[in-house]
Amino acid sequence: MRVHVPLVNSSRDGLYVEPGKSGWEVHVCNPEDMRRIFYKHEQFLKDEFGKGCEQTLLSKFTAGPNIGVLVGEPWKAQRKIVNPAFRRSVPVKLFGKIAQDLFEVMDTKGETVEVSNLMSRCTLEAIGRAGFGFEFNAIKDSKSKWSTMYGSIAKGLSDHKFYIFPVLDQSLLWLFPKRKLLHQYLDEFLSVMDEIILHKRELIKNSKNENNDLEENEKDFLTLMIESELRDEGVMSNEELKANLCLFFVAGHDTTASAICVSLYYLARFPEAQKKAREEAISILGDDPKDVLPSVENTKKMNYITQVMKEGLRLNAPIGAAIIPRLAGEDTFLSGTLIPKGTSLIMNMFNIHHSEKYWDNPEQFKPERFENDNINTSWLPFGSGARQCIGMNFSLIEQRVILSMLLRKYTWTIPEDSIHKDRLITSGFPIIVPHGGLDLRFLKRY
Ligand code: HEM
Repeated sequence: MRVHVPLVNSSRDGLYVEPGKSGWEVHVCNPEDMRRIFYKHEQFLKDEFGKGCEQTLLSKFTAGPNIGVLVGEPWKAQRKIVNPAFRRSVPVKLFGKIAQDLFEVMDTKGETVEVSNLMSRCTLEAIGRAGFGFEFNAIKDSKSKWSTMYGSIAKGLSDHKFYIFPVLDQSLLWLFPKRKLLHQYLDEFLSVMDEIILHKRELIKNSKNENNDLEENEKDFLTLMIESELRDEGVMSNEELKANLCLFFVAGHDTTASAICVSLYYLARFPEAQKKAREEAISILGDDPKDVLPSVENTKKMNYITQVMKEGLRLNAPIGAAIIPRLAGEDTFLSGTLIPKGTSLIMNMFNIHHSEKYWDNPEQFKPERFENDNINTSWLPFGSGARQCIGMNFSLIEQRVILSMLLRKYTWTIPEDSIHKDRLITSGFPIIVPHGGLDLRFLKRY
């Protein structure tokens, strides 16, 4: 940030070149060009994902035929099926129950709670149950079999050396017995998914789905996607269903956990904002000394809490610049600069979010900047255009439910000796999280 943001601030066009994984890459750091690239997604296709990385952990988990990596007609056909599933799925009751499980665990921990790990367990449970009705039991039992296995896989996915040198994960895998174990875990996890998909298809075909007694908005994505076949919205093979479920895990788990931690952090650092957010939660959900699970309607009224979340996502977007690069499909111009066909373009949202060209006092936490500003064209944590994050609404509602319930039940502060006392220090790739975890001190209100 110290190097690039000043560069962007002083540059004429908000573009710079840097060596990256695919050679010289152009970083796009102005909202106009970025939106053009996002909107003209057929001219600026996503780069082929997983090229040269076949059979690596990352590729086995994320490079299957899913909406995140496909382009052109196959992507359109899948998005037609997945869009309605995401429109229907707003499982607020599930999120509320997850918050209650979280409280149970927090209350066993004393005042100081490391929230990064806890939020990661909460969002894993949310995506497991909302994805395909799978219970990790991750919140109440930190050592549960599947959550431990999944946690190891997720950690393995962000291990840089295997990303930079895929051969270590392929023909040289025998040199890394621990890594080999992760491959076994992943194979086991994927075969459980296969079984669940077959089972669910069978149940739906015979109208025996255990989801039938659930409200439409609480059904899992797998059910909703299979049901879309019955509504003639399209058909997905079992392989495609599995590839998409995997993608929902990677895209929706630690991203949302990181976003919640960031909001908790800024609310701890700025007690006035915390007070205001709590007053809003209480005005919507009441102040009776017991848990209240927000309804969909309740979450729509959480204006200030949403401003806090948006400001957190601006300052600490979980995916700063790590989305799949785009390729210039033909010679073109970006802000007057010639971009030759085939150039790799990095969508650098981080630099836009931190540039004084687009934000007044960009390093200042100021949720009010979103007060009258629902469509700020420089706010891009979920991307934009036709390939904008399909889970945005799902994630924002999950965040609102968990934050509002936490605000009613606790007040919290940053411990004096925290490394994050004056500034949130982050690390991680591709998902950025609080560095070394985030301890906060909670006091119960009821
Ligand atoms: C704070 C949370 C989240 C952030 C910051 C985030 C960010 C993003 C971004 C920046 C993209 C655009 C990628 C691109 O254009 O190349 C994206 C795409 C996507 N996200 Fe999210 N995401 C979040 C939560 C979720 C959740 C909860 C899910 C699923 C349950 C999800 C599923 C997806 C999928 C499937 C795509 C690919 C869409 C397509 O290419 O058609 N995301 N996300």
